[in-house]
Amino acid sequence: METKRMIFVILISVLLSLSLPVRTDYVRPQPRKTLHFPREPKHPSLPHQVHISLAGENHMRISWITDDNSAPSIVEYGTLPGQYTFSSSGEATSYNYLFYSSGKIHHTVIGPLEHDTVYFYRCGGQGPEFQLKTPPGQFPVTFAVAGDLGQTGWTKSTLDHIDQCKYDVHLLPGDLSYADCMQHLWDNFGELVQPLASARPWMVTQGNHEKEKIPFFTDAFESYNARWKMPFEESESTSNLYYSFEVAGVHVIMLGSYTDYDELSDQYSWLKADLSKVDRKKTPWLVVLFHVPWYNSNHAHQGEGDGMMTAMEPLLYAAGVDLVFAGHVHAYERSKRVNKGKSDPCGTVHITIGDGGNREGLAQKYIHPTPEWSMFREASFGHGELKIVNSTHAFWSWHRNDDDEPVRSDQVWIISLIGSGCLAEKAYESSKILVSP
Ligand SMILES: *[C@@H]1O[C@H](CO)[C@@H](O)[C@H](O)[C@H]1NC(C)=O
Repeated sequence: METKRMIFVILISVLLSLSLPVRTDYVRPQPRKTLHFPREPKHPSLPHQVHISLAGENHMRISWITDDNSAPSIVEYGTLPGQYTFSSSGEATSYNYLFYSSGKIHHTVIGPLEHDTVYFYRCGGQGPEFQLKTPPGQFPVTFAVAGDLGQTGWTKSTLDHIDQCKYDVHLLPGDLSYADCMQHLWDNFGELVQPLASARPWMVTQGNHEKEKIPFFTDAFESYNARWKMPFEESESTSNLYYSFEVAGVHVIMLGSYTDYDELSDQYSWLKADLSKVDRKKTPWLVVLFHVPWYNSNHAHQGEGDGMMTAMEPLLYAAGVDLVFAGHVHAYERSKRVNKGKSDPCGTVHITIGDGGNREGLAQKYIHPTPEWSMFREASFGHGELKIVNSTHAFWSWHRNDDDEPVRSDQVWIISLIGSGCLAEKAYESSKILVSP
């Protein structure tokens, strides 16, 4: 039975991978192998794969999985170890995928929480104590950014480097586990990221590797949506595939590259409404993430983001988006401020950071000559850190995983559109585009 099942799953995966566009014109060097670690036997009601995410103002969602279907979705927490002065109950879900049945997936929102405070917490009324730190209520605030993570030796070194830096929130522009229909790899990924993801909020959006649709059998983002519930309800979105949140003085929008984005789509209407609600006095910085880059001078995935860019770039430009982070291309690239395919001092800085460490390796072939808008490009694994210092200044750095050491390879001060005076100029244009029905 076990062999039959394996053969079936492998067959399905092969069929699926054949249907995906594969580029053969670039060489991907030495990817590292997928990590395998035996899951320690635990009591079935003990928590696995604990991760946290922001869930509306001053609230945090705690997510975890138990083998036991009757384990309660309760989180006890407090500001001193072992002393849980508060508790919250949540909801649970589960899913089946071919022959795989997930454990019980718990999502419990806790709060209101104080800013910049360490909380100790326990899931399901028993088991180990975890700790988290809430983000600050005002600047400075620091984001760690890494996309296309996977679960290889390179993923591990990227995570180790992120762990060494001081940051408040992890931003992930798509492609988490590279489970690619092998559901136990989602569980493996959950264990791998738990030490970091249980301590700082992980805010994620989906990539192509989350799209595990098997026609007639499963929906496209079933595992992703069940496991990585994000604050879409809290931001008046109807889909877990796009949402927004605010942290310190930053409004962050997560978009979906793999759901409809044309002018008649729900995502487009939601984005327009969300942008028109942004109060730049409260959140001077506006940041957007999605998976497929719009500004990419790598041969890999060239032009794939064009459709979404045509539809949505006018909205982002009118609203004055400071920064866009994308993944998908397994390399790093930073642009000047751009709009409509060329540099524009009142446009957006686009950063491709799909180099977290997945098993497919790096995308090394670049277009020559370098486009005028491209400021820095390199095919190496690594991660980024965005420290927003105040309403006008942010320090961005990209850290390459060089021989397992984090090396700061690119760094730049970014001045916000508020700081450069662009927003005042945009006010008229944005009122036309964003407020019109
Ligand atoms: C913002 O931070 C930058 C960099 O540290 C500094 O030069 C600038 O004076 C700060 N602006 C304000 C208004 O504090």
